[in-house]
Amino acid sequence: MKKRILLLAGGQSGEHEVSLMSARSVLAALPRDQFDVTPVAISKQGRWLPPTDTRQALENGVAATGGDLVLHRVASAEGYDAVFPLLHGPMGEDGTVQGLLTLAGIPFVGSGVLGSAVSMDKVMTKQVLASAGIPQVAWRLAVRREWSTDQDGVRARAAELGFPLFVKPANLGSSVGISKVHGPEELDAALDLAFSLDRRVILEAMTASRPRELEVGVLGNDAPIASPVGELRFASEFYDYETKYTEGRAEVHIPAPIPEDVARRVRELALTAFRALDCAGLARVDFFYLEESGELVLNEVNTMPGFTQTSMYPKLFEAAGLGYSELVTRLVELALEER
Ligand SMILES: Nc1ncnc2c1ncn2[C@@H]1O[C@H](COP(=O)(O)OP(=O)(O)O)[C@@H](O)[C@H]1O
Ligand SMILES: [Mg+2]
Repeated sequence: MKKRILLLAGGQSGEHEVSLMSARSVLAALPRDQFDVTPVAISKQGRWLPPTDTRQALENGVAATGGDLVLHRVASAEGYDAVFPLLHGPMGEDGTVQGLLTLAGIPFVGSGVLGSAVSMDKVMTKQVLASAGIPQVAWRLAVRREWSTDQDGVRARAAELGFPLFVKPANLGSSVGISKVHGPEELDAALDLAFSLDRRVILEAMTASRPRELEVGVLGNDAPIASPVGELRFASEFYDYETKYTEGRAEVHIPAPIPEDVARRVRELALTAFRALDCAGLARVDFFYLEESGELVLNEVNTMPGFTQTSMYPKLFEAAGLGYSELVTRLVELALEER
């Protein structure tokens, strides 16, 4: 019998459009003889759209307003064999939707509440990975209340890391709200921006020099495998929003032209991180590689990476011989697997 799949896309985060693009690809790729797929687009206001509006949202790349509140919809999610929450960022990739689906008793693709929530928050990720012995840059946490009551304290904390440093909202993605701060005179504006988007902000030391950026895919539940390693190259100062989403600004190299032992370390560290964070299904793990010293630091873990036909994650597994259709089929199988 065909499996009934509910494909969730869009959502309330800044990555709404990216999610709808990914969903279009996944919808086209899930084999029709095995799966009966119902897409549901979630508007930027968080409403779940009916079928005709969802079709339009997938075509236009943005979900119109309207639709039902999520709580009205949970009951109607019953009867599906699995949900594919192809949502990026807050209110989708951060354990919220995963909690809802867990309560509803429906299997779903990807990490559960714990793995999703911890991996979404850059500070929590760093704390867990530090305890797993994974190399990372030096960092500090600041919360919004401190920035409104003790600015000098926050500035001093930043100064401990030295300049340049990165200021990031702890729970966003797509480089939204991230600044590279070259000196103390740029710090306040960067903190104002980050705190306008999140209650928690991470200050990060910059790597010793400009890093090479390596990414690796992980696939599986409790016996995960790692893909070949890929590399991103771009001309901009760092991998910012514009570089990520403007056609032709970044080049992807698979496999990354790096020594064999570096690739092996990347894959091992990615698998260790996946386990430490209690991830499931899939994750893309991103690294900085300092060629001169051979140093490798883990930057972040994405539990629902971009998933268009040309996105890094599917490309990495394609290089390992697993085509896009087979990959999405495998992800649904992993969701249905007894853990
Ligand atoms: N500590 C750092 N040292 C050097 N470059 C960094 C550092 N942190 C971030 N960057 C640059 O900023 C980009 C975005 O940061 P990242 O933490 O990956 O944010 P996002 O979760 O939005 O993708 C990275 O891909 C890299 O180019
Ligand atoms: Mg990133």
